[in-house]
Amino acid sequence: MVEVSTSVLTVEKENIMQTIYDLEVGKTDYFHIDVMDGKFVKAFTSNIMEEYCGYMKSVSTLPLDVHLMVKDVKKYIDIYLNYEPNIITFHIEAVKSEEEAIELINYIKSNNCKVGIAINPATDIKKVYNLLDKVHMILVMTVVSGEGGQALIEETLTKISDLKKYIEEKDLDIDIEADGGIKLNNVEKVKSAGANIIVSGTGIVKQNDFGSVIAAMKD
Ligand code: DX5
Ligand code: ZN
Repeated sequence: MVEVSTSVLTVEKENIMQTIYDLEVGKTDYFHIDVMDGKFVKAFTSNIMEEYCGYMKSVSTLPLDVHLMVKDVKKYIDIYLNYEPNIITFHIEAVKSEEEAIELINYIKSNNCKVGIAINPATDIKKVYNLLDKVHMILVMTVVSGEGGQALIEETLTKISDLKKYIEEKDLDIDIEADGGIKLNNVEKVKSAGANIIVSGTGIVKQNDFGSVIAAMKD
């Protein structure tokens, strides 16, 4: 069964409370929190994303799926642990070595939080193979990290199927989350490539009826 994690990156502040409510009614499985530090990617979103996490924690019990697009990973892990997220995901491109990645993985786990590794379109999927047995999820970017509303990059779908094949060969049990440019008109090929968690931002929050889009994506 596919799960849906809705990105609130493009939700205006004046609409966030209504959106949180409507997403809960619409049965999103997670809120996807896109944290950008202005260094790993151009945009800076952490202040508003912290505010949104605060609102979510006060009115909803839905789990937070925190996607760190940051250079100083430890700094932002510490900030977002305050919101008791279900999972914190950082980018493999933000660490200098596998050892550093393993340290951060263990640190997140030691704080009773699940951990994911994200990988940008240009990075070879093999870069995360040695970490698969240490994490709960791999987040395969289907757009270049940095903004919402972009078009899905088709070539990333083979990365998802390569990863899925490798996970099955190694008999591992980890989630594959696909993130970026996913809409009703392309979600089927993302799912058949092997993703079992779908992130969608503008594909959901810019539509009228969240529930029917989310149900169709899960279908
Ligand atoms: C991009 C973010 C994505 C993005 C998804 O850097 O990681 O989560 O906000 O939004 P859409 O679905 O509009 O591409
Ligand atoms: Zn994201």
